Amino acid sequence: MKDELDKIKKEFLQEIEKVKNSKELENIKVAYLGRKGFIAEVFKNLKSLSGEVKKDVGRDANILKNEIEQRINEKVAEVAKDINEFAEKKLGIGHILDVSAPSKRISLGSRHPITLVKEEAERIFSSMGFEVAEGPEAETEYNNFDALNIPKNHPARDMWDTFWLDNKKGEKLLLRTHTSPVQIRYMKTHKPPFRIIAPGRTFRYEATDARHDIQFYQLEGLMIGKDISLANLKGVIEVFLSRFFHTKTEVRFLPSYFPFVEPGVEVEAACFLCAKEKTEKRCPVCGGSGWFEIMGAGMVHRAVLEEVGISPAKWQGFAFGVGLDRLALLKYKIDDIRLLYGTDVRFLKQFK
Ligand code: DAH
Repeated sequence: MKDELDKIKKEFLQEIEKVKNSKELENIKVAYLGRKGFIAEVFKNLKSLSGEVKKDVGRDANILKNEIEQRINEKVAEVAKDINEFAEKKLGIGHILDVSAPSKRISLGSRHPITLVKEEAERIFSSMGFEVAEGPEAETEYNNFDALNIPKNHPARDMWDTFWLDNKKGEKLLLRTHTSPVQIRYMKTHKPPFRIIAPGRTFRYEATDARHDIQFYQLEGLMIGKDISLANLKGVIEVFLSRFFHTKTEVRFLPSYFPFVEPGVEVEAACFLCAKEKTEKRCPVCGGSGWFEIMGAGMVHRAVLEEVGISPAKWQGFAFGVGLDRLALLKYKIDDIRLLYGTDVRFLKQFK
């Protein structure tokens, strides 16, 4: 067996010297290291030996295998160098692409949790016939406030601390404090019936904490028809939340106030974590009450319909506004909104 190993080694060394290109190199690799190659054959024959001899030959065979591997690797580099020298001298080109060289590792990014939530909401509402509408982040005072039944000096303006923009001429501009102005833009340019959602970025001039940031994302909903009611709103929201949280989610309405709706409601959802059961333990989602606040909504105020030229005698419908950040915090059980706007890649790359 030892003679056999010496013979293999001698022949290998002679053959490898004659190698001129990567094809020949590959052939040698297969002949010696392949599944049915010389080295594999030696290991197979080891089975018929025993004791010290088996151990010795086994060790020598391993050493030889490593030597062959190493020499082949060296030869790979030599062949590549030859090719490039040939290219440079004979062909006058600098470099030949080595298609067999291992590629660089490309690190893939991941999508932001708010993007994921926005896209998921768009999918669900689209399946219920809602179209996606858009509006600008720098909005007019008229669309953001006046047309929504919040005239100047109306005390309700205090609900929205506003970043005013310093534009020199034309109408006063601001960073939209909610996505509700998209309702105005859409209703002024379309004839009912319609149903839309408008996801987008919004801004408030506020101190930041674990629940608030000066910029955040909302999704506005609006459905106008001949006989659209709060019952339809309830149905739509229940379908949306159930599909969004992957579990049947009931909602309930509490009376609330927003200038652009009448009646206005605060929508609460049955907690998908502890399912309405009031627990002694502090539930991370609802704090133990069994319900959590999810959005503002209501029946579009007749003053708003009149303002955009839609007859409240013929048409009626609901509107709602939900925080996409809030949906993301709930869905992924994140406890600080500032993580969403930070740049910590360890946090961000958890989302696919
Ligand atoms: N725009 C409101 C806000 O940001 C949320 C809202 C409440 C939107 C009621 C609506 C609605 O469409 O009907 O505070």
